Amino acid sequence: MKKALLTALATACLATTPLASHAAEPFKIGLIIPMTGPFASTGKQVEAAARLYMQQNGDKVGGRQIQLIVKDDGGIQPETTKRLAQELVVQEKVNVIAGFGLTPLAFAAAPIATQSKTPMVVMAAGTSSIMQKSPYIVRTSMTLPQTTAPLADWAAKNPNSHIKSVVTLVSDFGPGHDAEKVFTKRFTEGGGKILGNLRIPQQNPDFSPFLQRVKDLKPDAVFVFVPSGQGSTLMKQFAQRGLAAAGIKLIATGDVLDDDLLPSMGDEALGIITSQHYSTAHDSPENKAYVAAFRKLTNNSMRPNFMSVGGYDGMHLIYAALKKAGPNATGDQLLAAMKGASWTSPRGPMSIDPQTRDVVQNVYIRKAEKVDGQIYNVEFDKIEHFKDPGV
Ligand code: PHB
Repeated sequence: MKKALLTALATACLATTPLASHAAEPFKIGLIIPMTGPFASTGKQVEAAARLYMQQNGDKVGGRQIQLIVKDDGGIQPETTKRLAQELVVQEKVNVIAGFGLTPLAFAAAPIATQSKTPMVVMAAGTSSIMQKSPYIVRTSMTLPQTTAPLADWAAKNPNSHIKSVVTLVSDFGPGHDAEKVFTKRFTEGGGKILGNLRIPQQNPDFSPFLQRVKDLKPDAVFVFVPSGQGSTLMKQFAQRGLAAAGIKLIATGDVLDDDLLPSMGDEALGIITSQHYSTAHDSPENKAYVAAFRKLTNNSMRPNFMSVGGYDGMHLIYAALKKAGPNATGDQLLAAMKGASWTSPRGPMSIDPQTRDVVQNVYIRKAEKVDGQIYNVEFDKIEHFKDPGV
């Protein structure tokens, strides 16, 4: 009898102890982003937005404390990102890893997510194939095929674009390759002609010789993708090489006229058409509130750009999944709760495709214009609920 009671007690303890102690532990989010180096603006934007989300929504979900642990990976060494992901999972026992400023860094961390069954929220990187690197990846940023295809269609099919021939000029790594392939395919299918595909080194690029090559090829337009952070240099060299004066238009993904850098670019940006899923100037009550709160949190030091909404919505997705799956949810349960989630973001309506785990969102065609004396990407057309078309 006594023995039976002891066994029952032991069983009950075994069943309840992990739950009870688990609930007392904070729910940890390991945010790995470049806070230093050439892509530091990405990390700063994502971190500020994540902190804003927590300030607005509290640091508890279902009674469980939320803890954000920020790690700077410097943005250029995939091995560093992988080591940080491993340390966060093994030593800190984080429940989610998040961030990932560039594609090679997301690729490096993916096996850690798979091995430890930890959801991995990609808040910044944009190569289509990232989703295939782990079944634990969910994305809240964008994909380059998703933001590029609508611009290629617009350029080819809109008579007002006056663009019949294009040279593509992209950064030589994953997202650039995606942008090049998709632009070339869609623009050609739409009846346009591609005169050349040029690739620029990803790190410390000198755009000048490539822009000269574009000038020599005499297209109606050059289509450009460079990663967030490199747009100002590209724009300066575009002006110096006299491409606009030679009648060559610049069209680009929104990464080039990044809102973070746009105020420093000057009037050469005016009139440029880009496509993307977020603009600081997006006209909605949610975005007006977001921009005001972001500016306040950062003492007006920066505009929220597309990287920031990746971070803000990534936090929303984690909070929503934890609410739905309960405070003691396992990695698999959190992942299941993330699939199919939908909400209204500062960027507009968005959701997570339950099959691919990738982001579904509106993509906007925008024109750089002055609003109250400052240049913004003003949206004038949109493709709604657009999924990654792949490459
Ligand atoms: C990426 O590495 O996937 C990436 C980086 C910066 C961007 C877009 C994509 O602006």
